[in-house]
Amino acid sequence: MTRGCFIALEGGDGTGKSTQARLLAEALRQKGIEVVVTREPGGTPGAEAIRELLFDPPGEIWGAEAEALLFAAARSDHVANRILPALEGGEWVVTDRFVDSSRAYQGAARWLGDAVIKQLHEIGSGGLRPDLVILIELDENTIAQRPAERDDGSSDAIGRRDDEYHREVARAFRSYAEADPEGYAIIDGTGTSQEVHQRVIGAVKPLLER
Ligand code: TMP
Repeated sequence: MTRGCFIALEGGDGTGKSTQARLLAEALRQKGIEVVVTREPGGTPGAEAIRELLFDPPGEIWGAEAEALLFAAARSDHVANRILPALEGGEWVVTDRFVDSSRAYQGAARWLGDAVIKQLHEIGSGGLRPDLVILIELDENTIAQRPAERDDGSSDAIGRRDDEYHREVARAFRSYAEADPEGYAIIDGTGTSQEVHQRVIGAVKPLLER
């Protein structure tokens, strides 16, 4: 059984990752590939329960360390019970966020440092890395103009952190992508969802030819 490919979509809040994850999964299925589309934090009953602990009730209740541990625990369950079984069964996995979100949001923007997040990931998830990370970038003015994003009450406590926090998250994501051009595709998130989707498909093409 050939192991499936593991693709993570990453980026700041409001960049359109969830839509792109769904469109990518649909396009892959049309090529006859079996795809699991999932998200973090979440993707298993245990990890969804941790998601509720993180975001419900809304408001800042967790210190940086506790927050990082909760994300790592959710990821550990997700990897063990959903991602690895699917990959080992030959399915592809498309996840809306993975460990780079913890590196950016907790490691960089909450100052825990990259080494700590990587260590937690090693303990929790055996250091699993995606075959490809698709980083969707959108400038903050465009994100602010999008409906149903940060300030309409639908976003969580982390989404509502200040602009400087989100700028640091965006800088961190870009630095990971620039340090590893083979492991990442940087995608311009402007335009319609179909336009962005075409860019995503272009980035995934090398995996289809493997
Ligand atoms: P979502 O809006 O993409 O569902 O993500 C929920 C929030 O959680 C979002 O603000 C990003 C944040 N997050 C982290 O801070 N660390 C993580 O490891 C993950 C997966 C998400």
